[in-house]
Amino acid sequence: MQPVSFKGFAGAALKGDAFGSPDDPPVLLIHGGAQTRAVWNDVADALVKAGRHVIRIDLRGHGESDWPADGRYEFDAYVEDLRAVLAQMASRPVVVAASLGGWAATAALGEEGAHLAAGLVLIDAVPDMDFDAACLPSVGDGDRPSFDPGFAKAFDPDKAVPRVASAAEHIKVPVLFVRGAESELSGADETNRFLGRFENVEYAEIREAGQMVAAERADMFSATLLDFLERKVPRFAPEYRQGSDARTLRDALGCFATGVTVVTALDAEGQPVGLTANSFTSVSLDPPLLLVCIAKTAGSLAALEAAENFAVNVLHIGQQPTSNLFAKSGEDRFSETPWRRGHNDAPLLTGALANFECKRHALHDGGDHVILVGEVVRARFEPRRDPLLYFRGKYRRLHFA
Ligand SMILES: Cc1cc2nc3c(=O)[nH]c(=O)nc-3n(C[C@H](O)[C@H](O)[C@H](O)COP(=O)(O)O)c2cc1C
Repeated sequence: MQPVSFKGFAGAALKGDAFGSPDDPPVLLIHGGAQTRAVWNDVADALVKAGRHVIRIDLRGHGESDWPADGRYEFDAYVEDLRAVLAQMASRPVVVAASLGGWAATAALGEEGAHLAAGLVLIDAVPDMDFDAACLPSVGDGDRPSFDPGFAKAFDPDKAVPRVASAAEHIKVPVLFVRGAESELSGADETNRFLGRFENVEYAEIREAGQMVAAERADMFSATLLDFLERKVPRFAPEYRQGSDARTLRDALGCFATGVTVVTALDAEGQPVGLTANSFTSVSLDPPLLLVCIAKTAGSLAALEAAENFAVNVLHIGQQPTSNLFAKSGEDRFSETPWRRGHNDAPLLTGALANFECKRHALHDGGDHVILVGEVVRARFEPRRDPLLYFRGKYRRLHFA
């Protein structure tokens, strides 16, 4: 067991611990209101035995985490805490969260944080429960309670319910909803309505569960959870073998993070052509060479093969719309994009992170692509902006935790 600490919203220290090997796929456990991370003891054990890396934290105002003196226990604070924790993790975990933790996880992932998790497991987290925070049990031992009663402010239903409900609609990762005893506080209709909002959800019921399913029926809950994880977020990395599905190969290649470029030239009529390409590679300094791979099916290929000169425009973080535009067919790409002719006539996109003006050096066959090698004649770059990145089929930004 390793103690862990994350920095939450407004600097709140969120304490927890981690179990198992960091090389295994991570699972982040978030307890519910009026609980502490201790509710996961048995579940954490089962997960580690099944080859998962477990990280569990105490929510603010609970257990060893900060009990903010300024009473910041609004729902917002819980959501921001979770988003901050996820951003600080080394790889995308499956988030397993109960009641209040589940609402906060749903909001954190649905509102711009979708890429921060690989899956979501919710326990008793129907947002419109008929909930009376004042009736919460105290699970503290000795003199000090294990949670600050002020946390109940987060249960303000006018604020939290609509927010959680609409966030659910934006969650694309696989979701498992586990209904235990606490869900009895909401009717079947509320539960169904909530589940209907997710794109990709499974449902399980654990009957005879007490207040905390994960603690009181840990055997049944762990079995349900592990079955979901094995099917939806498998422990063993997918493998491509020659001749097997191209999708797996694509996914494997997508593990190599790249920038994004737009490759441009003038066609025989002097009209600009260009397409989005992330297959850009620097090749040689002396002579100065670079390459891009153009699909044989690309409409721009004929013009790029024929052009004596071309340009590679490296996009910055603000140019995602440009990348989309130059990847979509049937769009008038250049009328909507500021550009100018370079010294060799190839179109240079205004404001790009870098422009490389090239003379065609060689064309090679590259299977279903043509490898276009250019000799760099001029290059200019913008030293201060961040690049647009592409990784595992999605746009990304540089981020340093
Ligand atoms: C991030 C990203 C990277 C891409 N990289 C390449 C690439 O390296 N080579 C390629 O031929 N197409 C690539 N494409 C696809 C083309 O941009 C897309 O098929 C485009 O519509 C081709 O335009 P065209 O048919 O008018 O030439 C990429 C698309 C995206 C979104």
